[in-house]
Parts: sequence; C-alpha cells; structure tokens
Amino acid sequence: MIQTRITGTGSYLPATALSNNDLVARGIDTSDEWIFERTGIRNRHIAADNQFASDLALEASRAAIAAAGISAEAIDLIVVATSTPDYIFPSTACLLQSKLDVRGAAAFDVQAVCSGFIYALTIADKFIRSGSHRCALVVGTEVFSRILDWNDRATCVLFGDGAGAAILEASNTPGLLSSALHADGSHHGILSVPGNVCGGEVVGSPFVQMDGQAVFKFAVKVLSDVAREAIELAGVQQEDIDWLVPHQANIRIIQSTAKKLGLPMEKVITTVAEHGNTSAASIPLALDLAVRDGRIRRGDTLLLEGVGGGFTWGAVVLKF
Ligand code: ACO
Repeated sequence: MIQTRITGTGSYLPATALSNNDLVARGIDTSDEWIFERTGIRNRHIAADNQFASDLALEASRAAIAAAGISAEAIDLIVVATSTPDYIFPSTACLLQSKLDVRGAAAFDVQAVCSGFIYALTIADKFIRSGSHRCALVVGTEVFSRILDWNDRATCVLFGDGAGAAILEASNTPGLLSSALHADGSHHGILSVPGNVCGGEVVGSPFVQMDGQAVFKFAVKVLSDVAREAIELAGVQQEDIDWLVPHQANIRIIQSTAKKLGLPMEKVITTVAEHGNTSAASIPLALDLAVRDGRIRRGDTLLLEGVGGGFTWGAVVLKF
C-alpha cells in the first residue's frame, strides 16, 4: 500500500518584526501587557510592500526542497493554503510554480483559512495514496497584514505574515497515519473578511472582522474533539504523541487544548509569541522551527491541528 511521508520542511518569515511596543509606538491604543496576557503574542513579522504570498511561499518551498534533497522538477503536485492570495486568479500555487521555474505539475490553492495547511496536507496525502502523484509541495503562506484594519485594535494586534512548506513523498513506510477534517458554515459570521469584488470594486469590508470571544469558545470546543478523532483513526494512544504542533492563534487556546488532551506543555510546539497568528502558515512554520532546532526527530509521532474561519477545523496524526 502506498504511504505518504514528509521528507523535508521549510519556512520563511519576512525581515521586519513588529513588537507589541512597536504597535503602541505607531499609535495603536493597546499595550504589551494587554496583548501578551490575553494572547501570548509579543512579536509578529510583516511582509515588505513588494512581498506577496507567493514570494514568502517561494522562500519556504526552496528550504523544504533542499531539506528533502530533491529537485523542484520532481514535484508533480503543488497545493497552497492561503486566504491572502497574490491575485483573485491565477492561484498562488501557479505563481509559486512559475517562481520555482518548473512546469507541468498540478497546482491549485486551498481556502480553509487557519485550517488551510491541515486541509492541504490531507488533500496531498490522498493524491499520493491514490497512486496518481508521487511528490507534493504543500505550503501555507499568508500576508494577513494586508487584510487588517490597523485602526481596529481588537484584531490588528493578533496576526502576522509568514510561510511554511513541506515536501510529501510516496513511501513504503508509514508517514501520515490519519486525518480528520470538518466544517460548519453556519458560523461564518464570527470570523470573516466580508468583502467581494463587483463591477471592479471591493463591495463590503476587505478587512478581518471577528467576534473574539465566540471564536475562542468555538476553537477550544472543536480542537480537542478533532484531535481525539484523529488519534483514534490513527490507531495510536494519546501517550504515543511525542509533539503537538497546533495552529498558533492564542496561547490560551493552545494551553486549553493541550490540557484537555492530557498533554504537558513541554510536548507542545509554540511560536505564537514570536510569530503571532499567521493563519495557514502557522502550523508548517512551527513544524519547521522544531525540526530545525532538533526537538522533532525522525520517527516521532506528531499531532497537527487547526481551526479557522468558515468555520473549519481538522487534525492530522503522522510519523515524522
Ligand atoms: N488592547 C487593549 N484593549 C483592547 C484591545 C487591545 N488590543 N482589544 C480590545 N480591547 C479592549 C476592548 O475594547 C474591551 O474594552 P471595554 O471592556 O472597555 O469594552 C476590553 O479590551 C475587552 O475586550 P474583549 O474583546 O472582551 O477581550 P477578550 O478578553 O475577549 O480578549 C481576544 C480578546 C484576545 C481577541 C480573545 O477574545 C481571543 O483571544 N479570542 C480568540 C480569537 C482568536 O484567536 N482569533 C484568531 C483568529 S481565529 C483562529 O485563528 C482560530
């Protein structure tokens, strides 16, 4: 039976970092204490004016390709998770393909907001297991700074820009063990960018709108349930999980999920303090960081989980 393994990871953060105090210095009516106490965020990275989602994705992809020891020509599937694409079309995946200077691979975007990487990983896994494709580049990339109302302190302090990538290859040994994906569109109103393009103009708001408390409650409720579902589907026990690599929205959501799952925080990879919430990029960014600093090793069992606008949520259990 064909299995799917992650053979390389990569990530990229834009050079400009903004601390909570930098936001205060820029005139936002907030404080380091308020942001850190409620979210665990101290810093976020912001893309340069000439950097788009595909540019961040390119850097992360190059690092993942190098880590996997493959050439870009070997990739026959590119799946990019993003809610902040370069254009309405073509897809960011096609633009990334062009920047990688390769041709022919299937390429498309996935829109599942902060669960995007979990969705994209699952899609690529199913393509590979079907036998139709052998080597996938899966990317989460975001420039959320472009869709923030910098006058809305309730949302602008939460997000940052970045990209993370993984190479998935067909294998004889087990890699991705299970995946559980869900959505409930009836909750679309609690987190959205409710604008659309009509007659060449944006109608409605092009900025993130959020009911923070409703999002918090929803996230905490679904994340532990979907994590348990993926663990059961994988046929492993909770104590077999070496590392939880969660979506990095808020340290309190992460702590609460870990507690419900009986996982000590020593087994949880957190980047939210330094990256803020980078939406679809947050899980692969955290994964790559922990692989490169030596915490995550070959053979470890990982639980990846995320929740985001839609509402969408999902979890993956894998042997790294
Ligand atoms: N700085 C200072 N004060 C602020 C700020 C800020 N940045 N933002 C809001 N406030 C004020 C509000 O105006 C309000 O003041 P008031 O009492 O005088 O009216 C007060 O702080 C409390 O506001 P709440 O919205 O009730 O604050 P809460 O304790 O709920 O914290 C937060 C807000 C941090 C957004 C919290 O609800 C949360 O973490 N929710 C989860 C949201 C999230 O993680 N979203 C990410 C996207 S979704 C995802 O990725 C899963």
